[in-house]
Amino acid sequence: MSNAPENKLSVLFVCLGNICRSPMAEGAFRDAAAKAGLDVHVDSAGTANYHIGSPPDPRAIAAANANGVDISGAQARQLADSDFRDFTYIFALDKANLAGIRARMPRQGSAPIAMLLSAVGQPDEPVPDPYYGDDSDFDDCWATVSEAAEALVARMLSDGVNARF
Ligand code: 4NP
Repeated sequence: MSNAPENKLSVLFVCLGNICRSPMAEGAFRDAAAKAGLDVHVDSAGTANYHIGSPPDPRAIAAANANGVDISGAQARQLADSDFRDFTYIFALDKANLAGIRARMPRQGSAPIAMLLSAVGQPDEPVPDPYYGDDSDFDDCWATVSEAAEALVARMLSDGVNARF
């Protein structure tokens, strides 16, 4: 789903393949928002096209499941030009992703783009890619993205669409 309803707070998480980090961030953020009563549209995408149409990596699904969140229905997609106008915020999982997003960014009218960990005061820190790691790297990734997701939800609850990261 790439179209966010107009005038509704909406958040897009972007990594490289859209099968590990960004679907976990999407799931963690959706869960945190639902628990906090924040009405928000959430999606994720990859800068690369390697895994279009694929579900999240089984290790990402397992890490989310272990925390009570089902991300098995997600389908990878590539970042689209329309995302820059459809979303209120775009969050990159690492600096290469940030560069990839900016490379596609239209000259005018883009959503604000920030590193995900700017939500927890670490704008220069990446969310490490667990793809070449093991199960514990996926658990660590879940812990990192869910902490950031909770911080984002808190800021959006207090500042709405005026929150800046
Ligand atoms: P992600 O992880 O960007 O967190 O989804 C990766 C997934 C796939 C690949 C690299 C990173 N890959 O090279 O296929």
